[in-house]
Amino acid sequence: VEALRIGIAGLGTVGASVVRCMAEKEAELTRQCGRTITVTAVSARDRTRDRGIDLAGAQWFDDPVDLARTADIDVFVELIGGDSGPAFEAVKAALNAGRHVVTANKALLSKRGVELAAIAEDKGILLNYEAAVAGGIPVIKTMRESLAGNTVERVFGIMNGTANYILTRMEAEGLSFEDCLTEAQRLGYAEADPTFDIEGHDTAHKLSILTSLAFGCRISADDIYMEGISNITQADIRAAAELGYRIKLLGVAQRTDSGVEQRVHPTMVPTQSVIAQVHGVTNAVAIETDILGELLLSGPGAGGNATASAVIGDIADIAKSRPGFQHGPVFGRPAKKLTPYKKAR
Ligand code: HSE
Repeated sequence: VEALRIGIAGLGTVGASVVRCMAEKEAELTRQCGRTITVTAVSARDRTRDRGIDLAGAQWFDDPVDLARTADIDVFVELIGGDSGPAFEAVKAALNAGRHVVTANKALLSKRGVELAAIAEDKGILLNYEAAVAGGIPVIKTMRESLAGNTVERVFGIMNGTANYILTRMEAEGLSFEDCLTEAQRLGYAEADPTFDIEGHDTAHKLSILTSLAFGCRISADDIYMEGISNITQADIRAAAELGYRIKLLGVAQRTDSGVEQRVHPTMVPTQSVIAQVHGVTNAVAIETDILGELLLSGPGAGGNATASAVIGDIADIAKSRPGFQHGPVFGRPAKKLTPYKKAR
């Protein structure tokens, strides 16, 4: 079997981890996939920056759209970020050129996911996005594949590592909000614009994707009630603790009689509850269904290696897929058949 050729656009924290981990695990990946995976093309903003990774075998492109359209690749890996501009143009170009796409970009999927899914489904190619929700936790696969036949009633959880890291350290060590945020940025957890983490946008993007998978509706992040954690003070955390609670930034989507309710806000959770034990950059997603009951997945939700793990898993799935095989719908149901989102009254 021929090698699977990968083009990676975006060599920040996640992109560099993907290249490094794939090089370190080359033999293991080849064994698991039955073929080699090679990075044949890369693109990033700064060609001269030392990222501590070996890019010698890869062709350099200044323009990610050019890479997506013209490079000799089977898979386009989008790690640029942003819900429009080059990330959108490059993913669209790759799909239209019949190349599989792997992306970690929740903002892009939240805004344009249905449109992109429709192209992938028309072309019979894969658009994989495990890394877009809850970092390394395999929640997309669980919802798309493992929970077949289940009717989801509710999905909720901690989906932003930066916010959870800040709240955890504020509570445990009495540190200031600003110091915790600076540290989360240093560790490579935060978004390029950290207001996305602390004001709830990033959780809303992820929640909107899970809502679509859970309830078969079109993604609608604009309809999410959203409140972030930037106003949470030490006094709030202490008052919650005195009452037996911790403050967590939760995303919640649930079926109601009048539609789907989606919300993101700081929530007081009982200190003894499982969700209250989710510390630091860890994420946790709870899924309640009729057949299975309640499932809780938890694990590293942000950072280079955690996110790279999910990206590599998506790449490996493509390496194992058979040519000409018709792949299932991107959001669990065909993009054209997703029902319009109906906001709970
Ligand atoms: N900034 C995000 C977080 C990265 O902190 O969770 C993972 O999507």
